[in-house]
Amino acid sequence: MKTVLILNGPNLNLLGTREPAVYGHQTLADVEALCLSACAAHNFKLDFRQSNHEGVLIDAIHEAGRAQTAGTLAGVVLNAGAYTHTSIAIMDAIKGSGVTLIELHISNVHAREAFRHHSYISPVAKAVMAGFGVKGYALAIGALADISQA
Ligand code: DQA
Repeated sequence: MKTVLILNGPNLNLLGTREPAVYGHQTLADVEALCLSACAAHNFKLDFRQSNHEGVLIDAIHEAGRAQTAGTLAGVVLNAGAYTHTSIAIMDAIKGSGVTLIELHISNVHAREAFRHHSYISPVAKAVMAGFGVKGYALAIGALADISQA
């Protein structure tokens, strides 16, 4: 059984209380529970993480690349938060690790401020999902199941 890594970046630990009109009322623990059932439905193990620190996210991406090469990981779903719009280092980590990665945003970043329209991650991601709310995490896990069977 392969693992899916769900990696959440800065401020996503505040889900539930952070700008609920944009991100909804569900907490990060609720998102983890949702991912657990989506993973069970697709026969995946779940590795669910959150960090406010760029280097920790980069280390996790490198680790995921090694796990995918070893055949134990199906891919990564990354919500890099604001690092999406700023981090060349995370882009380089994704490219360098060669890991299969879906970029995810809870909100529709393209319907928001102009500075959220650019992503350093999109050019190195397998696919991009935005605007489905926290349900997007389950949809992305389903997409990884499709991709890894192809
Ligand atoms: C976000 C969108 C980003 O622009 C923002 O900085 C976040 C969350 C989202 O999930 O919609 O922290 O990635």
